[in-house]
Amino acid sequence: TISGFSLSCSLSSFGHSVPLKSVSVEVGVQGHVASVNSTLQYENQESNPVEAIFIFPMDSNAAVYRFLARIGDVEIEAQVREKEKAKEEYDDAISSGQEAFLLEESDESSDVFRLSVGSLPPGQTASVTVGYVSELAVQADHALRFCLPAVLNPRYTPAGTQELTLMGKVPGAQAGDVPYTLSLTMDIYSPSSIQSVESNCPLTPLEFFSQDKTQAKVSLSPGHQFDRDVELLLYYSEPHQPMAILEAGQPGVQSGSLMGDTVAMLSFYPEIHVEKSSPMMSSGEFIFLVDRSGSMGCPLNRSNDNESRISSARDTLLLLLKSLPLGCYFNIYGFGSHHESFFPESVEYTQTTMETALNKAKSMQADFGGTEIFQPLQNIYSKPCLPSHPRQLFVFTDGEVGNTKAVVDLVKRHAHSHRCFTFGIGEGASSALVNGMAEGGSGHPQFITGSERMQPKVMQSLQFALHPVAKDIAIKWNVAAGMTVNPLSPPVNMLFNLQRVIQYFQLTEQVCMSLHYTVEDKALENKLGFSMKPKTDGSMLLHRLGARKAIVDLEGKVREGDDKSAKERAVELSIQSGVSSSYTAFIGVNRENKEPVQGPLLRRNIPVCQPMMLKSKRFSGVLQTFFPQFNYSTPCIFSILWPTSHLQVCSEDPMLELIGLQKADGSWDLHKSLTSILGKKEEEVTKASPGKPEFSSVWATVLAVLWLHGHKAESRDEWQFVATKAMTWVRRILISPTPFRKIKSLCSKNLCFRV
Ligand SMILES: *[C@@H]1O[C@H](CO)[C@@H](O)[C@H](O)[C@H]1NC(C)=O
Ligand SMILES: *[C@@H]1O[C@H](CO)[C@@H](O)[C@H](O)[C@H]1NC(C)=O
Ligand SMILES: *[C@@H]1O[C@H](CO)[C@@H](O)[C@H](O)[C@H]1NC(C)=O
Repeated sequence: TISGFSLSCSLSSFGHSVPLKSVSVEVGVQGHVASVNSTLQYENQESNPVEAIFIFPMDSNAAVYRFLARIGDVEIEAQVREKEKAKEEYDDAISSGQEAFLLEESDESSDVFRLSVGSLPPGQTASVTVGYVSELAVQADHALRFCLPAVLNPRYTPAGTQELTLMGKVPGAQAGDVPYTLSLTMDIYSPSSIQSVESNCPLTPLEFFSQDKTQAKVSLSPGHQFDRDVELLLYYSEPHQPMAILEAGQPGVQSGSLMGDTVAMLSFYPEIHVEKSSPMMSSGEFIFLVDRSGSMGCPLNRSNDNESRISSARDTLLLLLKSLPLGCYFNIYGFGSHHESFFPESVEYTQTTMETALNKAKSMQADFGGTEIFQPLQNIYSKPCLPSHPRQLFVFTDGEVGNTKAVVDLVKRHAHSHRCFTFGIGEGASSALVNGMAEGGSGHPQFITGSERMQPKVMQSLQFALHPVAKDIAIKWNVAAGMTVNPLSPPVNMLFNLQRVIQYFQLTEQVCMSLHYTVEDKALENKLGFSMKPKTDGSMLLHRLGARKAIVDLEGKVREGDDKSAKERAVELSIQSGVSSSYTAFIGVNRENKEPVQGPLLRRNIPVCQPMMLKSKRFSGVLQTFFPQFNYSTPCIFSILWPTSHLQVCSEDPMLELIGLQKADGSWDLHKSLTSILGKKEEEVTKASPGKPEFSSVWATVLAVLWLHGHKAESRDEWQFVATKAMTWVRRILISPTPFRKIKSLCSKNLCFRV
């Protein structure tokens, strides 16, 4: 049996006491923004001084702006310095026996940080607080997603690029063995009432603090093990309300500088109403890029150990392929250590090309080794775009790569010629990669974690891809002469229905503004007037988020190499605003302690939860052989023990089988394989047909759609395009001239009762 499987972390025996004892997290949510204080409690229980190194994952949208340490009564507020200088200062301090704290972002990936706490004398306790702000991501179902990542996946480092210098050897912790605890509380202030808060972890009941339910508090249930990503989904009653918040500049700071001026955060989340009758877009080039690296052989999630990530991706491809409109173009790429495409160039979507692609998709395995996503992307972008078929790229990955920044830059460079939708599969998928690619490519990131199915999320994104796009987007300011509005975020080029846009501006006065765009040649406007007083609570959260946007933009320019002064400006802005960047670090030194710490310094790496592996005792022997350290080129143990053929058998689903039989034009043939899914004999169904044998496909198609409505109503999200396509086909046949005209009357009888 495979019941012994569950999500856990890699084995490791620490062999010494772990100086990190607990992590407590306070989250304050205001609308679409979360501010977080994360406090880490250390204690050195050894007889020598120690240096504790903690490498941990971080939300890629976070602007880290505060780093504070407390030793006894002494509080040390760390300063932002250029990274090399900060490291030197730290090394000097600990080698001379001082207590020092260093926090740095990984050079390669903005979602990995390293925290060094040095020269903790025996018996000493210390606490370290990291403060950051971040925008909450919008989910396809309008939930706002807060994630506190816990799982650190080993990143695959492509040949020829630098090793992730920060990662080094991070010890793995097994579930139940993570040697520190986590507590988390969240205070929520929402512009509209809060409907619910959901999580993959047990929560205390939601407590409201106002009549209108716009203020609430929720906590993680006590005793939480920090062994999985903590995800909270917030549901507001009116998520589409546009919102503007102004924040006054810091008193005493010169106006004209970012921290001295007012900052505006504008958040639009427009719902573009499209005529129901308007036909589905029948143009477009759809490219599906599927991760086939070894780790894709891991189970999709902890609650369904039968389905691997790759088998779920295969099922999803089936749905996608069946949902595409006739007349569009498509291609499918698999990537790992190398990449392959189903067709040399994108091909027109026809019955023949669909069948070819489906056959190839069925045999897709997680057998391509490493995760090199850069080359296939380059290959895709090198192909000329097809006139009047806008390119839409769907990327499926469990997101464990070392060269995230280079990949995101590549997507951004081609933002004008395509859209990029991304799907992060499983826990620990790099949020920097999945968010960064989607953001860079004006797409939509989605994460498939917990017990979620991949299919509904992907179909949501397909819906976005098939919708008309708003163009000619402009934000028009109604400002007094002589006043300046300085954008901090890059401009918005494309706007989908239900895509949230957050923009930051540096202002010198109060203003009115509106967002303009056109959809299908209709000019639309989203007006937002505000003359409210800026917030002056001194939190400077919006300034920090605005600064972070500008820093990330500058970092991109540095990597492109065409802006000589960009690095200097990024460092300057980082130091001025106190917000982290990849060129700076936070450094704090305890200068109060006059007596140097004595004795040889021991280095202790804090273990971090690492991804899915087998926990069962039965397999621990196998585990030991495979995972003294996690080896990137070792495919997931799960797929070694249970070859994928077994998983295929398990994941058989009558709905997917039914959809698998649908033809490219949307119709079904009346065939035994269809009628057996419907639970009928072929003769029975033929006999019940209201028309002549030549109408049998119409009959079969109507029955298939009825079956989906009747038996799979809960999965409507997944089959909606398939059904729309089928009914479009039926209608076209029925209104076409004889001999099919007659069948209309037959069809309009209540067919459901005849089945
Ligand atoms: C984080 O700490 C700062 C300084 O103590 C405080 O002003 C802020 O309200 C805290 N934020 C949260 C979310 O608790
Ligand atoms: C896994 O497969 C077994 C047998 O094939 C089945 O009984 C079980 O319900 C499946 N579990 C899930 C979560 O699908
Ligand atoms: C990983 O394992 C493969 C074979 O299982 C081996 O060739 C390779 O050297 C290992 N890599 C590391 C970094 O241990």
